[in-house]
Amino acid sequence: MKRILVAYATMAGSTGDVAQAVGEEIARSGLQVDVLPLGGVKGLEAYDGVVLGGPMIMGWHRAALGFLRKHREAFRRIPLAVFVMGMSLTQTGETSVGGVPVYVDEKLPKPPEKEGRLNFRERYARLSNYVQPILRATRPVKPVTIGVFGGRLEYGRLKWWAVLFVMLIIQAPAGDRRNWTAIRSWAAGLPAEFQLEAPVADGLAQVA
Ligand SMILES: Cc1cc2nc3c(=O)[nH]c(=O)nc-3n(C[C@H](O)[C@H](O)[C@H](O)COP(=O)(O)O)c2cc1C
Repeated sequence: MKRILVAYATMAGSTGDVAQAVGEEIARSGLQVDVLPLGGVKGLEAYDGVVLGGPMIMGWHRAALGFLRKHREAFRRIPLAVFVMGMSLTQTGETSVGGVPVYVDEKLPKPPEKEGRLNFRERYARLSNYVQPILRATRPVKPVTIGVFGGRLEYGRLKWWAVLFVMLIIQAPAGDRRNWTAIRSWAAGLPAEFQLEAPVADGLAQVA
């Protein structure tokens, strides 16, 4: 049976629940799925596809970027999908970055204050600014798809410097903005993106 790894990095825990939901959707296609924090991943040899998720923490989570760099060679063989959690995204209408299709949770982006002239915060929170470091980390391989979703922010769990950054740059109110419908719908498409669709569906197609 084909086996998929859903690995995740997290700072405050909420990306782990998202990885779990992504894993559940993939498993519906009859694929075997392991959902693991990055520290629990021993190697990629056993896998036919990898999904890597992580939050924006002043740039995409460092450990997630490090994981991509470390396994760059393996991704020549194993298809890769990536998801990014965040609380701030500037609405620019971009649907792909560097030739990689990006699925954006429609509830996340906010239009710029002045159309056509982005301020510092809005430039920082552009899709391309978030995604380009991910593409650099996997080059020359490209992820088959990248999903960008609203996350969860709880000020009470943060150190003072994190509160300062979030208040000044992210300017997002505390709360849970995870859009489970968008997350699950993106995840349900991954077996097809990996070209590993369920054997049951193949069988039905043959019968028909
Ligand atoms: C220190 C810090 C920096 C953050 N930086 C960004 C950011 O640059 N862009 C963004 O959209 N969200 C940012 N966020 C919001 C997180 O990405 C969001 O809360 C995420 O869901 C946290 O996931 P976790 O619970 O798995 O750690 C930041 C949050 C913190 C605490």
